[in-house]
Amino acid sequence: MSGTLNLKRSVIVGCGGYLPEKVVTNHDLAKIVDTSDEWITERTGIRKRHFAAKDQPTSELAVKAAHVALQNARIRAEDLDLIVVATATPDRTLPSTAVIVQGKLGNNKGLAFDVAGVCAGFLLALNVVDNFLKSGQGKYALVIGAEAMTSLLDMGDRRTCVLFGDGAGAVVVEAKNRDDIGGDRGVLGVHLQSDGHLHNILYSDGGPSTNGKVGKLRMDGQEVYRHAVTKLTDSAKRILASHELMVDDIDWFIPHQANIRIIESVAQKLKFPMDKVVLTVQDHANTSAASIPLALWVASAEGRVKAGDLILHEAIGGGLIWGSALVRF
Ligand code: UT7
Repeated sequence: MSGTLNLKRSVIVGCGGYLPEKVVTNHDLAKIVDTSDEWITERTGIRKRHFAAKDQPTSELAVKAAHVALQNARIRAEDLDLIVVATATPDRTLPSTAVIVQGKLGNNKGLAFDVAGVCAGFLLALNVVDNFLKSGQGKYALVIGAEAMTSLLDMGDRRTCVLFGDGAGAVVVEAKNRDDIGGDRGVLGVHLQSDGHLHNILYSDGGPSTNGKVGKLRMDGQEVYRHAVTKLTDSAKRILASHELMVDDIDWFIPHQANIRIIESVAQKLKFPMDKVVLTVQDHANTSAASIPLALWVASAEGRVKAGDLILHEAIGGGLIWGSALVRF
């Protein structure tokens, strides 16, 4: 088995994204809660976000992003062996959102399932898919981060409702033989970790087996912030060291987009220049599992991130669960 593991690489061959039509600015939110554009911009970097329509479930956002990624990869949905959706806002408690997406895409030959890693969900899904593909369980996979975060927001709680937005991002990943790849492309490695002692600093206060409700998102923002800066810095240092890479070797830092201050603090601690950091938080706010693939889609569509570039990703979310990934695009 280990021989097989070393022979394959999971290469991103197409990116896609979707943002719902409705744009909500900080000024719009200031009309419904006691907040201001100044506070939100200064504390988070967020200026606007997209809200899904009432009749737009997460699977619909995911399918729209998936179509773009499949088109860019020139892969047909029927050919997918794996569809993995990272989401904290599933359409239903069961079945998984991934099988709903699979049905909507018209695929019935592959395996579809969800992963629950909240804001770190995309990296978790990428890690799972990478291991499936490297062990020979399929050739083409679709990895989606999709969230209708507004379905979890308490619009009366100014500490949380200004921070999140809706959207979906997707990548098509292909298992390639290392000998066939020009250069050293693909997922080089993922580091993920969790600490369940911290499950109560970022959570939904509902659940099927607790109170039978969906619940609303609750967060001790300062605590999450504190853990985010130290844990993300530690994870990045760890993955770079394990691949014998230096910060200078990285072409782009594409982190989870929760708060510009967290991103800047981590970049500063890593001595990573901000002009090589992809930022979408100002336009999308925190879209949880969707934020990394959305940022990757934006940066690749703009021609900033190119084939062969070495990307450092990282994310932290409710759990707490956090980690980083090294991907040569
Ligand atoms: O995806 C991963 C999950 N989430 C995160 O990464 C979020 C991590 N945490 C954060 O980004 C920051 O902690 C927040 C943006 C959530 C909050 O920023 P902060 O600088 O930590 O503010 P704070 O919680 O210390 O609140 C400062 C003040 C408080 O007022 P008092 O007690 O000083 O009078 C809050 O009540 O700001 C007040 N406040 C607001 N004021 C206007 C809190 N939310 C708002 C608001 N508008 N929306």
